[in-house]
Amino acid sequence: MMKLMNERVYKAVITSDFHMSASPDPSDAIVSLMKLQRPVFDAFFDMLIKEHTDLLILCGDNTQSGSVADMRMLKEYLNRLAEKDIDVIMCPGNHDFDSGYEEYYEQLFFPLLKPDEKDPHSLSYLRRSGSYTFFAMDDHEGKRSPRGVLKAETVEWLKRKLRKEAERRQKVIFLSHHNLHADAWMGRPEFYCLSPSDVKDLLVQNGVKLVCSGHLHDPKIYHSEIDEIVTPMLLAGNHMYGEMMLGEKEINYRLRRFYFSGSLLDQVYEKDRICRENRMAVYEKILKDSHGKYEISMMLERLGWWQDAMQSGTVYEHRDQLFQDQHFLKALDLLGDSAWGKWIRASLDASAVSSCSLRIEY
Ligand SMILES: [Fe+2]
Repeated sequence: MMKLMNERVYKAVITSDFHMSASPDPSDAIVSLMKLQRPVFDAFFDMLIKEHTDLLILCGDNTQSGSVADMRMLKEYLNRLAEKDIDVIMCPGNHDFDSGYEEYYEQLFFPLLKPDEKDPHSLSYLRRSGSYTFFAMDDHEGKRSPRGVLKAETVEWLKRKLRKEAERRQKVIFLSHHNLHADAWMGRPEFYCLSPSDVKDLLVQNGVKLVCSGHLHDPKIYHSEIDEIVTPMLLAGNHMYGEMMLGEKEINYRLRRFYFSGSLLDQVYEKDRICRENRMAVYEKILKDSHGKYEISMMLERLGWWQDAMQSGTVYEHRDQLFQDQHFLKALDLLGDSAWGKWIRASLDASAVSSCSLRIEY
């Protein structure tokens, strides 16, 4: 049984896609801080302890490959929290079984995760804390599959347990690695969205108000009959994570930026600079030959604004400003139907635009 919340507010840090790797030289072609794993995770876990976090929630792809060494590294960090009596709720992602060790995963992590009830057909489980019940779902399809699929038996288990928790008047938070909602840029939504898609109806019918997921690596909040928080990746982007205050009558979520200090700050700055330059080089390739040097540099700057807004979850706040800027509109026009153009347009779609905070009332 987890610490009881009573009337006090319970502080959870929620993130996903640690992609923790024990490899001595992981590639950092896409994820800027991949080679700084140890110092970054040391600093992050120190912060969790120092800031009196009650609970850490991880929404999958917690390891890079699911190798025994990666899993042991993750366990080592989670043990630091267990020593301080900080709870952990974690669901796996597609990467966590690239090497396929379901039994070892269960053996290694479940004594620490302490499920209240477990699905016999997968690694899905539920855990209660006061008036909250967390469903940590296992949606991995198989070795190296990017899809997120709940087995038919798991959906049946979910159905039964959701009904039970509703009868108990518990507030349910559903956690999965893959997303409940799709974006317009997704050429192959089956690589991003949780299947079967009627899980959403099941959750709504049982009064579930909040879903948290990962997989996209950038932060996002979707609103529909049910709200979804897509949690960002610490090692990439603007190094954001989510903070969730869980009270008896409301949940308050906000995105926070992780601040590095000391010599690590210089290393992070340098890694991020390289990553940003690589991204800009891709944009420049698409924009080049169309205009003069000055205009291209203006367009690249505006794309940098968009990227910063997107990575810090503030697209909603910056949408009007971007749409009033001629250099940004020109860049968007030139990016056309490229994957980047589609992505940027989808992120600015008025019906799907995302913010950096969310409040849910019960
Ligand atoms: Fe993933």
